[in-house]
Amino acid sequence: MTHQIHDRLLIIDFGSQVTQLIARRLRELNVYCEIHPFNIVDDAFLQGFNPKAVILSGGPASVVHENSPRPPAAVFELGVPVLGICYGQQIMMQMLGGLVEGGKISGGGGTAEFGRAYIAPTEEQTDLLRGWFKTDREQVWMSHGDHVSRLAPGFKVYGTSPHAPFAVTADTDREFYAVQFHPEVHHTPNGLKFYENFVHIAGFTGDWTMNAYRDEAVEKIREQVGDAHVICGLSGGVDSSVAAALIHEAIGDQLTCVFVDHGLLRKNEAEEVVAMFRDHMNLRVIYADEAELFLGELEGQSDPETKRKIIGRLFIDVFQKYANDIEGAGFLAQGTLYPDVIESVSFAGGPSVTIKSHHNVGGLPEKMGLKLVEPLRELFKDEVRVLGRELGLPPSFIGRHPFPGPGLAIRCPGEITREKLEILREADAVYIDQIRRHGLYDDIWQAFCAILPVRTVGVMGDGRTYDFACALRAVTSVDGMTADYYPFSHDFLGETATRIINEVPGINRVTYDITSKPPGTIEWE
Ligand code: XMP
Repeated sequence: MTHQIHDRLLIIDFGSQVTQLIARRLRELNVYCEIHPFNIVDDAFLQGFNPKAVILSGGPASVVHENSPRPPAAVFELGVPVLGICYGQQIMMQMLGGLVEGGKISGGGGTAEFGRAYIAPTEEQTDLLRGWFKTDREQVWMSHGDHVSRLAPGFKVYGTSPHAPFAVTADTDREFYAVQFHPEVHHTPNGLKFYENFVHIAGFTGDWTMNAYRDEAVEKIREQVGDAHVICGLSGGVDSSVAAALIHEAIGDQLTCVFVDHGLLRKNEAEEVVAMFRDHMNLRVIYADEAELFLGELEGQSDPETKRKIIGRLFIDVFQKYANDIEGAGFLAQGTLYPDVIESVSFAGGPSVTIKSHHNVGGLPEKMGLKLVEPLRELFKDEVRVLGRELGLPPSFIGRHPFPGPGLAIRCPGEITREKLEILREADAVYIDQIRRHGLYDDIWQAFCAILPVRTVGVMGDGRTYDFACALRAVTSVDGMTADYYPFSHDFLGETATRIINEVPGINRVTYDITSKPPGTIEWE
């Protein structure tokens, strides 16, 4: 067993939209924390987790309703600091003997409150608010329907807002803290200081650093894998690359990576990725050149979902074929991140609609009898980038825009032909070069070209042309779930269009896609 090295903070999730932000803030303070849904946290869980402090998140339920979600009473008997936020504050008060009422939208006293509010201190002093007020009031973000109307015994008020007389309360003897606002959101500008005070009270030393994480992760991988062999599907994306580099550091040549070239990669991509891993990182990489297979099966197909399904199926077949030849393979490595792992709390329920069948290796491990190694399960995306840099991956590689598994197939609406793919590769390379030359690459979340399934008439020199049109796409986004188009200057767009038409035979018209997501999606298919 690996010993618990870090002090751990437990966040009990009641389904707030912003629970993940609590974890982000704490990680910024070098505090190790985990989010777990309220319905799996029982006495045994608490004992096993052994938290140094607990945070009860916000959530959409109402404590005035019967059977509202609650933490186990044992949370208040652990002898560690507990912080309740919004719903967490209300359930804490109710369980400890206070009173919570449903909100009135207007009227005096406590009411429902949504949006910006200002908190003023009372006469009482608490370390939780030490250095927090920059002036005589502090901006916070409120989002609550119910409110506490009577404090539990032992609690005092330390901060009030016009509509929340119990905005900041605490029982400092038992180290229970309860706030009505959300310190984790951007609109509570001094929220980090608030969390800093809380973890200071709890005695955290800020021992969660990427360096420490790296050493610990290496130990864990060695322990899990023993002398078995690990295979890793390398896509050239950041997550699988960092996972591979970390596993390589742990077990060296017991790791073999498989890089599948489906003939739908960008210009020079296969060579660059393979060279970086083989030459720069010294990894064992099998380069699976299967372009003929993929392009052959895609011939004549123009329906987006059919294309995705063909690519997904072939990818698994090919990966399996190569992996079968690796002797002693017992594990499959995946670059799963923490946001994919957190079990979400669903009150409304109901499956969401499938917009696109995303391509991944789901189901593969069982089929092949492999166990999973997921060394990034505890990290957020930006932390993965930091780890990647620590492991020596070049910054230019770490900062690359995401690239989808089905590759250029979904940037080539309609039928895929080798000719169109070649034109698309060239146009995309010029476009990305333009973005880099203008120093815009890191401001953009993702940029690429799509080749449209139409030919249009143009005139070059004195001759008529009848060539393809292409669309440029560039978006800003945080997680790819929503996105906005990037506001290039007209000069930039004009210069780029001219370069593409001059430098890429086969394209005589360039358009810029200004659709946001929603209603559009980032990719064209
Ligand atoms: P959409 O087009 O759904 O894309 O708005 C959101 C993000 O996901 C990427 N994407 C994929 N990534 N396999 C992947 O690995 C896929 O099948 C896939 N489809 C879209 C897309 O590039 C964007 O970053």
